[in-house]
Amino acid sequence: MGILTVSDTREKITSKEIREKFLSYFESKDHLRIKNSSIIPKNDPTLLFINAGMAPMKKFFTGEESPEKPRLCNVQTCIRTIDLDDVGDKSHLTSFSMLGSWSIGDYFKEGAIKLAYEFLTKHLNIPNEKLYVTVFAGDKSIGLDVDDECKKWWKEVGILEDHIVECPMEDNFWIAGETGPCGPCTEVFYDTRDDDVNKYVPGGYFDTKTRYIEIWNAGVCMQFNRNLDGTYSPLKFKSIDTGAGLERLTMTLNKMSSVYDTDLLKPICDKINELANGKLSERTVRVLTDHTRTISLILSEKQAPSNEGRGYVPRKLIRRCILLTTKESVKDFDYLSLYNFFIDNYSDIFPLIKENKDFLLSHFEKEYEQFNKVLVSGLEKLDEIKTKGNNISKEDAFDLVTTYGLPFDIIEDYAKDNNFLKKDDESSSF
Ligand code: ALA
Repeated sequence: MGILTVSDTREKITSKEIREKFLSYFESKDHLRIKNSSIIPKNDPTLLFINAGMAPMKKFFTGEESPEKPRLCNVQTCIRTIDLDDVGDKSHLTSFSMLGSWSIGDYFKEGAIKLAYEFLTKHLNIPNEKLYVTVFAGDKSIGLDVDDECKKWWKEVGILEDHIVECPMEDNFWIAGETGPCGPCTEVFYDTRDDDVNKYVPGGYFDTKTRYIEIWNAGVCMQFNRNLDGTYSPLKFKSIDTGAGLERLTMTLNKMSSVYDTDLLKPICDKINELANGKLSERTVRVLTDHTRTISLILSEKQAPSNEGRGYVPRKLIRRCILLTTKESVKDFDYLSLYNFFIDNYSDIFPLIKENKDFLLSHFEKEYEQFNKVLVSGLEKLDEIKTKGNNISKEDAFDLVTTYGLPFDIIEDYAKDNNFLKKDDESSSF
């Protein structure tokens, strides 16, 4: 990554241009551009937050409701916290913008593949040889064989035969939560290298860690409903659901080495570095960047931090940020300036951050004050324990949690960082 490859010499492109190209392309193919939904799901107890463009439209796929037009497109803000521990690497985020297009009971695999290929090669100008695709390898449990139909259409449009990879259910079957409309999918990957290092050979390992990067789930072939008991029932009609992460697509098309280099996130990273005088590690800057955006998006929906469910997500993210800046000795980090910067610069994409600025800032500040107080006194107590003998008894840990309100994972981290835990020593096994 980061090297302008010989076979792909496109010009730079901004995230706004990609967004607009995507929407106007699908409009030109009869798709209705629809507004994005709130990230707070309506009448859907299976999700804490909208995690994909299709999540607010589940009833279209089941036939319980009908869309204005059978072909739709939009850009949906999504929140996904399942990969929280990976945030800070080159591509994992807790919030992102998803470019989505849909056929509700209209075209199926052939249409989806033709549209995707044309957009990628003619409108984003990605050379054909840079594209790899995955197809569902089949699974007896749902009575499906390898997806030869998708394979056939990918070959027909021009994808090279040895660029088609069969993947099992855990990689190529998509569902928004535990239950609901779902189906096998076909994904598009960009090859970031021109040499033979970890190059895919049919039947071999498909290296999505260092070489091939997923740029589009170009078709969830919606055909089942997953029921509460884990069984699958066929949907009344077949549909297509696609989704591409704008941050990742912008990174890939500009051959950047991380999503934090894109125009969607780099200004936030730069602002953090400026406010911290460059004293924070790169990973912490990235985590703060990601979390600032996600926290702002959630608070801007008037969802206050709390101890359970939806409210626990911003609470957890705010605490993680404070803990990181404290650990890296930037104790008086100016969060308020950071949030104001984000609001001032990103309200064109996320209008609610400006509309509900007062709620956002006041709830952030309240949460910050509360946790910072707990953290400062809890860490002082831990330092005191440390000077007495480098060990934490169960009683100490209990006291820190119940009296000081310090979260247990912070005590564990502190113990690890200061070599408190000696496995063989019974008195330290709190
Ligand atoms: N809903 C599909 C996904 O999120 C497109 O990957």
